[in-house]
Amino acid sequence: MQQGDMMYEGKAKQVFATDDPTLAIIHYKDDATAFNGLKKGTIIGKGVVNNLVSNHLFGVLAQHGIESHFVRQLNERDTLVRRVAIVPVEVIVRNIAAGSLSKRIGYPEGTRLRSTVLEYCYKDDELGDPMINDTHIAAMGLATKEEMDQIAALALKVNDILTAYLARLNLSLIDFKLEFGRFEGRIVLADEISPDTCRFWDARTNEKLDKDRFRRDLGDVEEAYQEILRRLMGGVQ
Ligand code: TMP
Repeated sequence: MQQGDMMYEGKAKQVFATDDPTLAIIHYKDDATAFNGLKKGTIIGKGVVNNLVSNHLFGVLAQHGIESHFVRQLNERDTLVRRVAIVPVEVIVRNIAAGSLSKRIGYPEGTRLRSTVLEYCYKDDELGDPMINDTHIAAMGLATKEEMDQIAALALKVNDILTAYLARLNLSLIDFKLEFGRFEGRIVLADEISPDTCRFWDARTNEKLDKDRFRRDLGDVEEAYQEILRRLMGGVQ
């Protein structure tokens, strides 16, 4: 399998074609941005952590029957994935109020929600990924009603599996973002699941072990990423 041209460069990843048109290679960078690219920096070792963490969590989900784009890890920073057509909708799942939800509804960070919140954002950097709902998604033709039903059900199932898995590692899954793709007529999980795209708090101390340490200048950013990797690779503490 031969690496081809770069097809796409995002804020944290590069995606390369391969000699097999059904496969792509994701390369994870240490570059970090926040607030739609307004804040820029580097988190040393982040690319390695996100690659290993994401692949590990896709493996956990696969054991529970959730299909993803993951094929195999090539090295510390590169992973072979199935080439899917990304649905341009970011799916945010929230168990505990934090971040933009805390601002929007006035719940202090850490407030448990009575039930899981699902939010959709239109994946468009120029527009700043605005929040949209099912009727916008239908009106814009971003996905069909059947696809959105599947996506919502998958997102909730991913939440149940990961919440239980991470609890055993003394991590609270506060919220996270998922992306889905179309592959051979099916909806599969795509993109990454990592400290860049999730809020992970230590279950005992509520210490933030995710990208909020970078967004909010909390310090010990690299250490937080390494701690997530350590807990996932080390198994139950
Ligand atoms: P928010 O509270 O800023 O809306 O973020 C909710 C979750 O989504 C949080 O776990 C971080 C993740 N997220 C991304 O992965 N990418 C983004 O661009 C944003 C804004 C949030």
